[in-house]
Amino acid sequence: MPSSWVPVSASLVGPLIVALASVPSASATQYSLAKEYYGSTFFDDWTFYNYYDNLTNGDAIFVSAQTAFADQLAYVDSTTSHAFIKVDNTTTVPYNDKRNTVRITSNDSFAVGSLWVTDLYHVPYGCSVWPAWWSQAVQWPQGGEIDTFEGVNLQTNNQMSLHTEPGCTQVSPNETSTLVTSTDCSYDANENQGCIVTDPSTASFGSGFSTAGGGAFVTEFATSGISVWFFPRSQIPSSLSSNSSTIDTTTFGVPVGNWPSTGCNVQEYFQPQQLIFDITLCGDFAGNAAIFNQTCSGVCYNDYVIGSPSNYDNAYFEVGYVRVFSTEGSSTVVSPSTSGSAAGTSASPTGAPGTSGNSAKGLREWYTLVLASGFALIGGLGVALL
Ligand SMILES: *[C@@H]1O[C@H](CO)[C@@H](O)[C@H](O)[C@H]1NC(C)=O
Ligand SMILES: *[C@@H]1O[C@H](CO)[C@@H](O)[C@H](O)[C@H]1NC(C)=O
Ligand SMILES: *[C@@H]1O[C@H](CO)[C@@H](O)[C@H](O)[C@H]1NC(C)=O
Ligand SMILES: *[C@@H]1O[C@H](CO)[C@@H](O)[C@H](O)[C@H]1NC(C)=O
Ligand SMILES: *[C@@H]1O[C@H](CO)[C@@H](O)[C@H](O)[C@H]1NC(C)=O
Ligand SMILES: *[C@@H]1O[C@H](CO)[C@@H](O)[C@H](O)[C@H]1NC(C)=O
Repeated sequence: MPSSWVPVSASLVGPLIVALASVPSASATQYSLAKEYYGSTFFDDWTFYNYYDNLTNGDAIFVSAQTAFADQLAYVDSTTSHAFIKVDNTTTVPYNDKRNTVRITSNDSFAVGSLWVTDLYHVPYGCSVWPAWWSQAVQWPQGGEIDTFEGVNLQTNNQMSLHTEPGCTQVSPNETSTLVTSTDCSYDANENQGCIVTDPSTASFGSGFSTAGGGAFVTEFATSGISVWFFPRSQIPSSLSSNSSTIDTTTFGVPVGNWPSTGCNVQEYFQPQQLIFDITLCGDFAGNAAIFNQTCSGVCYNDYVIGSPSNYDNAYFEVGYVRVFSTEGSSTVVSPSTSGSAAGTSASPTGAPGTSGNSAKGLREWYTLVLASGFALIGGLGVALL
């Protein structure tokens, strides 16, 4: 079983994360709209990473907002109102350089009691391409990570996962997937692959996703547990496609992935999450030789990242919308501006809010683990040389 490290990390955003005025105490099924990213204002409330991929050793530069807009790596199509997040597919990249791409993190964080939906028409794929739609707390691994959508290269199925401190496991899930890769969510186990559930549907990733017209992912971040639903476009329930300002998860049926609080106390292992879209290239997961050669041939960096850009014509997200809901009767949105003033009331068990030093610690521990186990770390020659 291959290791599959997922993106972690030090966010450049520094909102102070604090306890909320109201944290729902019971498991909820009713949610109301709290925040929408859609249309011409889609990109307004995100932070572009603006640095090379120093998180997962990808052969990628996550550009600034200015470069992303100027080079059309992030834009909203005025006809469809869909947002595009892309890898550069117009530049011939010389040997030793990395390729431009995008990583955006929501300025707001969303606390336990939130649910987020993204409607996608196309997801990035291709040899060397490693896309993810996921979330993490500012402090990692203490505040946890939820990977709703992730995969690499020409894989055909989405894999969902949680990453946490030790002690969180997937126990007795009520989920449709039977493809459970691992049940220990600890970053310190199994080379930090997390507790992975793979979607059996080939419409959940790659070209199969777009062929099915895309679809919608729903992530429920509740006290009772974390759940992910995936609906190919033809199966999106009317309770979602109606763009209602309230939703009831009982209309969704059994989720494809489910991590109940009985095995992983959500309030203990998770803090408010920032949403992230990113596309990196090669790196620890896509570029790992044993994973790369499962679906692609050649050498990740040398044969794909550099040279002709045409390999990246399908390396883009086309997003209909992202909508975030709060448990009915509460507000789970933690904005950077409001969080600072309440910092003194933080109930965070992990110390000073807003610091990311622990992420670096997590990374170092991971590398130690990896090196100790003799695991091949192949992220492309470019990484070593840059
Ligand atoms: C989100 O944060 C970025 C900087 O990190 C800032 O440029 C942008 O204006 C913020 N968006 C909003 C709506 O405050
Ligand atoms: C959904 O409805 C809201 C009003 O509640 C509207 O602002 C928004 O544009 C709609 N979104 C989509 C994706 O149609
Ligand atoms: C699984 O979830 C479905 C849908 O929410 C529910 O009807 C069913 O009772 C659950 N099954 C178990 C064993 O909890
Ligand atoms: C893929 O790479 C692994 C590790 O380098 C190797 O053991 C395996 O034989 C390779 N498989 C193929 C199909 O080349
Ligand atoms: C780049 O990708 C887009 C799709 O995102 C495609 O329309 C375009 O033709 C591709 N090639 C170039 C050179 O822009
Ligand atoms: C990545 O680079 C940024 C910007 O220099 C820095 O703030 C952050 O700590 C770095 N992260 C890691 C894990 O090295």
